Amino acid sequence: MSIDDVLARIDADLPAATTRLMDLLRIPSISTDPAFKGDCDRAADWLVADLQTIGIDAIKRDTTGHPMVVGHIDGPSGSDGPHLLFYGHYDVQPVDPLDLWDRDPFDPEIQDTPQGQVIRGRGSSDDKGQLMTFVEACRAWKAVHGELPCKITFFFEGEEESGSPSLVPFMQQNARELTADIALICDTGLFESAVPAITTQLRGLLGEDFTITGPNRDLHSGMYGGIAMNPIRVLTKILAGLHDDNGAVTLPGFYDGVPELTDEIRSQWQGLNFDHAAYLGDVGLKEPAGETGRTPLEMIWSRPTCDVNGIWGGYTGDGFKTVLPSQASAKLSFRLVGTQDPDAIRVAFRSYLEDNLPAGFTVDYLTEKGAPASQMSISDPAFEKARQALTDEWPRPASYIGCGGSIPIAGYFKEILGMDAMLIGFGRDDDQIHSPNEKYNVESFHKGTRSWARILHALTG
Ligand code: BES
Ligand code: MN
Ligand code: MN
Repeated sequence: MSIDDVLARIDADLPAATTRLMDLLRIPSISTDPAFKGDCDRAADWLVADLQTIGIDAIKRDTTGHPMVVGHIDGPSGSDGPHLLFYGHYDVQPVDPLDLWDRDPFDPEIQDTPQGQVIRGRGSSDDKGQLMTFVEACRAWKAVHGELPCKITFFFEGEEESGSPSLVPFMQQNARELTADIALICDTGLFESAVPAITTQLRGLLGEDFTITGPNRDLHSGMYGGIAMNPIRVLTKILAGLHDDNGAVTLPGFYDGVPELTDEIRSQWQGLNFDHAAYLGDVGLKEPAGETGRTPLEMIWSRPTCDVNGIWGGYTGDGFKTVLPSQASAKLSFRLVGTQDPDAIRVAFRSYLEDNLPAGFTVDYLTEKGAPASQMSISDPAFEKARQALTDEWPRPASYIGCGGSIPIAGYFKEILGMDAMLIGFGRDDDQIHSPNEKYNVESFHKGTRSWARILHALTG
């Protein structure tokens, strides 16, 4: 069977596919903000209805948080092909700061840019545009052949951007239904605009959100300044102490479980010729800030980090106020690698913090859960088949790469369901995911859809 008819069908259907994606982008499914709960529900309904138009048996499945969308479709009767599962997330990040957007984040538009046409809008790249690439590939396949080449399960979540609180119990309760031969996750990027990629390792994530309290109320800094310890001074000293002069994290035991690169991965990454000056230059920076002696790709993909994501306290309004505040707060995140244990790092961080609080000070934590890093084994022949299929579609051969971001479900597929996950996506570094003016190149959407058709062909041929 030739793949050309399916690819031609995808080409012809691109305008309609783009229109469908724009419909989905108009639904403001921000999972972290309770004000948008109804919109998350509507996005799930939209996907169920869309999958049903392809003949997929899809339903919305309620959870205690936002609903899951699960759909199944059988392959040809009697086929012994693999059973594939596609995962993506339909929720999106909040849009603030809204004033930095050039247009309404939920009124998507196709724009001409020097890098080609883009679809501008929140969720276009992370992850609605990516999620729709495999839906569109299946739609085209079904239209041409009347059926899909193998059994496929679709699993779309609406809580990824808010830490997936319902995901693990849902996977445990529906383990049999959700177990396939391999999970295909479309939520990562290309290596470069012409170089497709299969991501083989993701960093884990641990968040901490806390407030320290010193004096029992805000004080006049003339009456108390000098005798009373200022919580902002305490907080900034604690935060400043988290890194040493070589860029390493100082928490005792932090590097337990951090592996050195294997020779195989080191040579894969060397072959990528990563241009870190261009990567940093694009965001207005010049120098890598990671640990001394590490390569730029190691800093992003295989070394753990600690970052302050937000810090607040005291008077931040207009004008001047001589206050000595009662409280100071911060949000931190740690990116984890190897077998670093999020719980052990939380304990190490909290004891460092509490050891450095002056007498009489207290701390309150808002607990966030953590997820360990994940490393995919590429021994399943499906990986090389998919890599060849990507290479056939794009100008340059597909690479195996790492990813500095976190997609905890990749590890849960292995841990809870015993299945490998293959991470393939078509986002670009300049997509501005999680930022104002997010976009997805029309080429990413179009060639992404064509890539999935080729991968389906390669895995079932
Ligand atoms: N799609 C991203 C992960 C990602 C980031 C892939 C960068 C490729 C490049 C995902 O939606 C995401 O944002 N993950 C969060 C973690 C989640 C638990 C909130 C992240 O990495 O911060
Ligand atoms: Mn995502
Ligand atoms: Mn995201």
